[in-house]
Amino acid sequence: MTTIARRHDPEAVERILRGLPDWFGIEESIVEYAADAARLPSYLAIDGDEVVGIALVHRRHPGSAELHLIAVAPEHHGRGVVSTLLAAVEHDLRVDGTTLLHVWTVGPSLEDAFSARSRGFYEKRGFVPLQELARADWEDPALILVKALASTR
Ligand SMILES: CC(C)(COP(=O)(O)OP(=O)(O)OC[C@H]1O[C@@H](n2cnc3c(N)ncnc32)[C@H](O)[C@@H]1OP(=O)(O)O)[C@@H](O)C(=O)NCCC(=O)NCCS
Repeated sequence: MTTIARRHDPEAVERILRGLPDWFGIEESIVEYAADAARLPSYLAIDGDEVVGIALVHRRHPGSAELHLIAVAPEHHGRGVVSTLLAAVEHDLRVDGTTLLHVWTVGPSLEDAFSARSRGFYEKRGFVPLQELARADWEDPALILVKALASTR
């Protein structure tokens, strides 16, 4: 069974990202995400004693939040771990009164099966594509997706 822990674990973030070279192949970016994991609100999916998935949330403005990172170790893909992580993130944001969650991911202009799978997941979970930018803080096109959250406050 997968449980969620809310604590920082930069080492787990680094380990999981290093296991996903098809999505996270840039060393500099892995190191940046690990540093982000030490300061941003962090969600860990735990299976037994092992951290098998991670999510980081960046609160840039009141009322909205960015899903800064979400990733699951490859041997645990297809088991709903990512949906459990996202549900925990969304729960906390709703309780907090946050009404918009957004995510930036690689856009469809770049033909890549791995990015397409990520976008498919987001859209299945209710994110709506908003805009594609030619580039963001990475080289490839960036798609911004948004999801409205009903506040429970
Ligand atoms: C994207 C990622 C987090 C998805 O995790 P996963 O464990 O492979 O996801 P699952 O297979 O459990 O799929 C979760 C849900 O999305 C759906 N889904 C997955 N890929 C899909 C696709 N291409 N199209 C439509 N739905 C899709 C699944 O059907 C599932 O829905 P269900 O639970 O209702 O059946 C995982 O592949 C990953 O860690 N990728 C690397 C990091 C990444 O891409 N992060 C996000 C972008 S930066």
